Amino acid sequence: MDGVGVEVSKRPHAVCLPFPAQGHINPMMNLAKLLHHRGFHITFVNSEYNHKRLLKSRSPSALHVSQDFCFEAIPDGLPPTDADATQDIPSLCDSTSKTCLGPFRNLLANLSLDKALPPVTCIVSDGVMSFAIKAGEDLGIPVALFWTTSACGFMGYTQYRQLIDKGLTPLRGEASLTNGYLDTTIDWIPGMKDIRLRDLPSFVRTTDPEDIMLSFAMGEVERASKASAIILNTFDILEYKVLEALSSMFPPIYTIGPNHLIVNKIVPQNAISSSIGSSLWKEEPECLQWLASKEPNSVVYVNFGSITVMTPQQLVEFAWGLANSKNPFLWTIRPDLVKGDAAVLPSEFAQETKQRGLLVSWAPQDEVLNHPSIGGFLTHGGWNSTIESLSAGVPMVIWPFFADQQTNCWFSCTQWGVGLEIDSNVKRSEVEKLVRELMSGEKGKEMRKNAMEWKGKAEEATGPRGSSLLNLEKLVKDVLLQPS
Ligand code: UDX
Repeated sequence: MDGVGVEVSKRPHAVCLPFPAQGHINPMMNLAKLLHHRGFHITFVNSEYNHKRLLKSRSPSALHVSQDFCFEAIPDGLPPTDADATQDIPSLCDSTSKTCLGPFRNLLANLSLDKALPPVTCIVSDGVMSFAIKAGEDLGIPVALFWTTSACGFMGYTQYRQLIDKGLTPLRGEASLTNGYLDTTIDWIPGMKDIRLRDLPSFVRTTDPEDIMLSFAMGEVERASKASAIILNTFDILEYKVLEALSSMFPPIYTIGPNHLIVNKIVPQNAISSSIGSSLWKEEPECLQWLASKEPNSVVYVNFGSITVMTPQQLVEFAWGLANSKNPFLWTIRPDLVKGDAAVLPSEFAQETKQRGLLVSWAPQDEVLNHPSIGGFLTHGGWNSTIESLSAGVPMVIWPFFADQQTNCWFSCTQWGVGLEIDSNVKRSEVEKLVRELMSGEKGKEMRKNAMEWKGKAEEATGPRGSSLLNLEKLVKDVLLQPS
């Protein structure tokens, strides 16, 4: 018997397959830790490219921590490279959907030949790696699809077919992007009254009928109906209207978020899985000491996630906007944040902000957001960042880049009362104005109060008898421990 009371030879065995990008690996890793805590043997499958990066950013032993939490890797189908950066997302979507099923099937076959391992009993695959359903069918085991978007983002993707049928996308010529066409109100989506075309997941902004991301998203959503279950990293009260509508469109949906909070609550600090990290970049924890020297609620945390790229000019606009707001700031600038170039900030900016600004290349985000010195978050609105910010009670200024971020931003600003949006054509004056409002304006105060209320509700959802904790238990009992 092990620490959670399951005889090792009888352990259920979950194979967890995230899409190979940071914003997908993190929530999948949290779910894997929860399943491990619940007695599952875990095989966590990264792409070979990311596996190498994880080894580089952490000590190699951290990836081989125990006999019942193992790592495997399969090729992502892209040409090999030594770069240490996020891969091109459309190419990655195209190649994973076309090439990964074979290597994944081979991996499952090898796992089943290994007599030292319990037989594979279920697959938890990323929502956008739906080819895993076929592999699950071969073995006759359940496949749960974990969509790592918000429920509202997921709902947005489900509307693509209808948007095409109604002629709203693909857009008719480049002019549609600038002439107010994107402000067209969409009035039929449940739980999204008065949303505009521009607020739906960004792949509708194409003029190409063959657009890879548009057809990829549609295909993945359509295959979701074949899964044994859908998992979302959200909590019921946050997105209840959208969730209610989704529940009649798909197999059973299990909301188990914010799942990092459940990990913090139920996985003991000394558990084997607690030492496993999932950052593809090396974290700089020293920034926490710097934060400790600042006043409560005084620092703006700036971070655009793992995929966003910007032009050198946009970087400079953000820099001067922050400098002119006069607030202290902690800014994560990934080495690959600026398109085709190293991020270069003006020397006058460094001079002007050296007393109150700290730049890092990757931060321990959850600890940063929960630090008492943090008063606001300038973010791209990725779903993980959004739900981590809500969980920490931190209001946001949002510059959505792509995918579900536009929809997360609309919900944050108009429905949850925790965000202010920055125009995509970012200007330093607007950054300055919105950051000041966030940190010391009336609207900022109100947003902070709302964010604190959401934090309380996220705590409730993940606490004893909370909806997310109960749903996790149901997911395990009703799906993952069942024959398919
Ligand atoms: C993407 C999409 O943006 C997002 O909308 C989608 O739902 C999932 O995939 P990404 O753009 O990287 O992810 O953003 P986000 O969802 O916010 O995920 C980034 C993750 O990296 C977060 O968990 C965040 O805590 C972590 N992170 C980021 C760090 O730990 N340190 C950093 O310095 C930056």
